[in-house]
Amino acid sequence: MRKPSKFLVATMIAALALGLVAGCGTSGTSGTANQAPVKKIKIGFSLPTLKEARYPIDKDSFVKAAQDLGAEILVQTANNDETLQKSQVEDLITQGINVLVLDPQNAVSAADLVNEAHNAKIKVISYDRLIMNADVDAYVSFDNEKVGELQGEYITKQVAKGNYFVFAGAPTDNNATLFKKGAMKFIQPLVDKGDIKVLFDQPVPDWDPAKAMTMAENALTANKNNVNAILAPNDGTAGGIIQALAEQKLAGKVVVTGQDSELAGIKRIVAGTQSMTVFKDVRTEAQETAKLAVEMAKGQAPTLNSKVNNQKIDVPSLLLTPIVVTKDNIDKVLVDSGWFTKAQVYGN
Ligand code: BGC
Repeated sequence: MRKPSKFLVATMIAALALGLVAGCGTSGTSGTANQAPVKKIKIGFSLPTLKEARYPIDKDSFVKAAQDLGAEILVQTANNDETLQKSQVEDLITQGINVLVLDPQNAVSAADLVNEAHNAKIKVISYDRLIMNADVDAYVSFDNEKVGELQGEYITKQVAKGNYFVFAGAPTDNNATLFKKGAMKFIQPLVDKGDIKVLFDQPVPDWDPAKAMTMAENALTANKNNVNAILAPNDGTAGGIIQALAEQKLAGKVVVTGQDSELAGIKRIVAGTQSMTVFKDVRTEAQETAKLAVEMAKGQAPTLNSKVNNQKIDVPSLLLTPIVVTKDNIDKVLVDSGWFTKAQVYGN
């Protein structure tokens, strides 16, 4: 055998010192220099919009929690445009994500994206809104029917007899169906009894506050302002509806519901123009989802607390609990939990 040249010996010594020669060094724990570097888990997070005030909180909480768990996060937001969301998700798929966390703009057409992700061996978590008719791997949300029940219970307690306008959220969002279903459990029996008259009953496309405002203006005109209670599915639409009421000097005289505990909604509650909202701590929702996504990327099978049927399968689900917020418990629920400071709520 030829003696190794001086140059080769020197190179090998240098390489040994750096721990770069295969087979040398310590035993094979992951991350040591004698193994291929461990690939970071990559998670794609696709949101339908950042318009409602909650979404930047979802996004920041998710990114922070997933990064703390060592994952790399790619975020996309789709401006309420399902075509844009489709191309953004397809882009995430080509970037080699391990798990896709998808809050769908359109609950039905998003099923195609689940199939595309699965074809690329990517697991899919349906975030906040359920993707229908697809083999979704997991679902994290709140008990959305309960959200509607909280709204319905509150509004019927305040106005047990009278004229109602019933607004629902976007028809493309399965949550909107559940919110309305929950609320109608309380409203419908009183309609059947003849105590409540529903004078208006329509969904708001894309949850758009400006559309909600126009719809409320038209409904007020058509009914000569004769309304006692308005079921608004979230704070954004409540804002538009309350503007329409204000034009008629009716703000504060009509009971209006909401959801999300947005600062603008809370300020309206303090001012007396909105009657209630629902608090969903989306920080927890995002953190739990990040944890779940990392576990799924590692091939673990997490145990979840529920199953929700999406017309194809019973999706293993984690459902968190929503809380009613009125003037009386803003401090306890929102200030004590660090959602808002007192200055934010009561300051100018
Ligand atoms: C969410 C609500 C939100 C609404 C509009 C729903 O799916 O659960 O929190 O207000 O979408 O974005």
